[in-house]
Amino acid sequence: MANVTIIGAQWGDEGKGKVVDWLASRADVVVRFQGGHNAGHTLVVGNQTYKLSLLPSGLVRGKLGVIGNGVVVDPVALLAEIGRVRAQGLNVSPETLRIADNAPLILPLHAALDAAREAARGARRIGTTGRGIGPAYEDKVARRAIRICDLAEPETLDWRLDELLLHHNTLLAGLGAPTFGKAELMDQLLALAPQILPFAEPVWERLAEAKKAGARILFEGAQAVMLDVDHGTYPFVTSSNTVSGQIAAGAGVGPDAAGRVLGIAKAYSTRVGSGPFPTEQDNEIGRHLGERGHEFGTVTGRARRCGWFDAALVRQAVKVGGIQGLALTKLDVLDGMTTLQIGVGYRIGGETLPHLPPGAAAQAKAEPVYETIEGWSGSTRGARSYADLPAQAIKYVRRIEELVECPVTLLSTSPERDDTILMQDPFAD
Ligand code: GDP
Ligand code: IMO
Ligand code: MG
Repeated sequence: MANVTIIGAQWGDEGKGKVVDWLASRADVVVRFQGGHNAGHTLVVGNQTYKLSLLPSGLVRGKLGVIGNGVVVDPVALLAEIGRVRAQGLNVSPETLRIADNAPLILPLHAALDAAREAARGARRIGTTGRGIGPAYEDKVARRAIRICDLAEPETLDWRLDELLLHHNTLLAGLGAPTFGKAELMDQLLALAPQILPFAEPVWERLAEAKKAGARILFEGAQAVMLDVDHGTYPFVTSSNTVSGQIAAGAGVGPDAAGRVLGIAKAYSTRVGSGPFPTEQDNEIGRHLGERGHEFGTVTGRARRCGWFDAALVRQAVKVGGIQGLALTKLDVLDGMTTLQIGVGYRIGGETLPHLPPGAAAQAKAEPVYETIEGWSGSTRGARSYADLPAQAIKYVRRIEELVECPVTLLSTSPERDDTILMQDPFAD
């Protein structure tokens, strides 16, 4: 069995969707195991552009998509997304999409609490996507979530809604936000039930069968290691574990199912929302990267903050994420820049550190230590073979490999599916 797990190695939006779509041609099943519709994955195939948030990217290739129990599912957002991609000609049905019956639901009150909390934080806001992700994961851990299987049991919904509303309405009222009524929520859930339940099943059984049959499973991560609730730049993180180890708990498979772990990193860095970003370039360079890279969030449309590649940060992601090979994307965005910088460590006060320390205040103060490297005048855009790359671009890739202590096994040179250079097939094992 040769499975592959894809995770983001920076702060998200590295091009995971493009790489998953590309690799899905070699897979039988594509599985989401964490996150929710805070993710936004853009896939460009010929003249079609697909924007996916909850749906596994393998659906575009007609591969079976599985949403694991580690995902928080907003049923309204899910049905809307299914409607959108069906209008683009994709086949999404209970035959092609299976959703874990024990996945927790995101309800309208979660987004309301997300927004109210962010407003209360003021200047210290996290800059969440406002999708209710944090409050939904909190409810799961607090054992008061409503799960997909509960949609089949109106009597369970009845008492669980009481418990949920006691908690949320107290908080919402305290924050000066409108509260929710039980009858309306119950009606909404009962109306959603027949639309959602046909997709629901114990996906762990299907994945166990897939394993027995020797099927190839591709685990599709959302967000990224620096947004991981444990390993990221806390508290400016998302509310799930994004590292590869999460596939086991988030899909109901053993840890050995991860197979080969591929980390995705951009050839520079971006971040959406607040929080430390040592190599950020809030200047002409950052604006240049943002324009060339079309760095606007898929989910919220916010302009992404841009900066130089931070090798110290990616090296940490390689270690905590169990990354065995790196896919480097958006190399083409650096075309024509005369001088490039790579972050190799941090200076805080008089001290030089190889990695970001965990404290929020120390992280905010961290100044990057840079290594300067010559850029290239030729074009990498659309290159499909290593031989087509300017020699200096190859040097840049090689230097990154050394600094992050991980081989670069795939390169992406444009948004288009086939503008990809594979150096080592992660499924070949
Ligand atoms: P994800 O969240 O990791 O799946 O990434 P997003 O889809 O949110 O953001 C990546 C963006 O970069 C998308 O608009 C992709 O179409 C685009 N993209 C992916 N790979 C490349 C590449 O190699 N070059 C360029 N120029 N764009 C790319
Ligand atoms: P993909 O899968 C980039 C960021 C938000 C915010 C923080 C917490 O497309 O890479 P949340 O709504 O999760 O509570 O927000 O995490 N964030 C992302 N940034 N790409 C994503 O997903 C993200 N998902 C969440 O901007 O800073
Ligand atoms: Mg994205």
